[in-house]
Amino acid sequence: MKITTSAPGKIMLFGEHAVVYGRPCLVTAIDTRVTVSAEDAEAMSVDLSGADPRFVNAAVSNFRDTYGLPKGIALKTSGFSSQMGFGSSSAVVAGVLQALSELTGKKLDNKKLFDLAYKTVLDVQGKGSGFDVAAAIYGGTLYFMTGGKIIEPLAVKDMPLVIGYTGVKADTVTLMAQVAEKMKAQPERVGRIYDAIAKLTEDAKVKIKEGDWERVGRLMDFNQEYLRDLGVSLEKLESLILAAKSNGAYGAKLSGAGGGDCMIALVSDKNRSAVETAITAIGGQVIHIKNNAAGVRVEL
Ligand code: MEV
Repeated sequence: MKITTSAPGKIMLFGEHAVVYGRPCLVTAIDTRVTVSAEDAEAMSVDLSGADPRFVNAAVSNFRDTYGLPKGIALKTSGFSSQMGFGSSSAVVAGVLQALSELTGKKLDNKKLFDLAYKTVLDVQGKGSGFDVAAAIYGGTLYFMTGGKIIEPLAVKDMPLVIGYTGVKADTVTLMAQVAEKMKAQPERVGRIYDAIAKLTEDAKVKIKEGDWERVGRLMDFNQEYLRDLGVSLEKLESLILAAKSNGAYGAKLSGAGGGDCMIALVSDKNRSAVETAITAIGGQVIHIKNNAAGVRVEL
């Protein structure tokens, strides 16, 4: 028997960093997918094609420890690069666990998949809220609380986003450590920033459902100010954000840990091409992807 699965990447919309400290975030899955196949075999083999072996190996051993596995399985992964911060590792973990769950007939539901996938990511990475794991498994656009305390799918229209890549690879674990240092040094100030981010994230949850892009854009701008205060923005991110804003974007912010990777801007149809041209003109790379994509699934 052979099972093929695929799982999406993600883009953080609101609430990065604050979500690690018990506040909510909003995340959307994107149509850039990882594919995994799992097949009965004589012995265990893994063909990674670029995926991080630590995540694949941890996923296999966590599945084996929890649900058991036959001796031989041939696993194969393929998909998008980890370069831009779209959550390829979480997508691989989700794809591997879903494939093993189908192959062994365990048929885990989304919450069981999430719990095992989140444990796997923590085993490898040590820290993280799990929002990317939730996006890979549930898909769509989610309101999320750390560790999956709340995973609430939102009935939303696709958001008119422009995504600009800085060309700089961000190191999420290092950035989380920097923010943790800041939290230790100035707990009250940083706590107030997180509370403010939580408040605007709640507001954004309502306004995204209403499709009130003008207001959602304003909230992105506020969120960006707080991320700047946290010290996780970067000159290149700021220049792409400014380019988007001065060409008519409703709002713009960094997306993810900061320190590189991507920014996102919310635009009207009328302004989309001016914003994309401005981002490209100053050395950013516009990435064309759809949001609100389907979660992990079996491919026929
Ligand atoms: C990184 O993409 C987003 C952070 O909030 C970390 C996390 O939530 O795991 C910084």
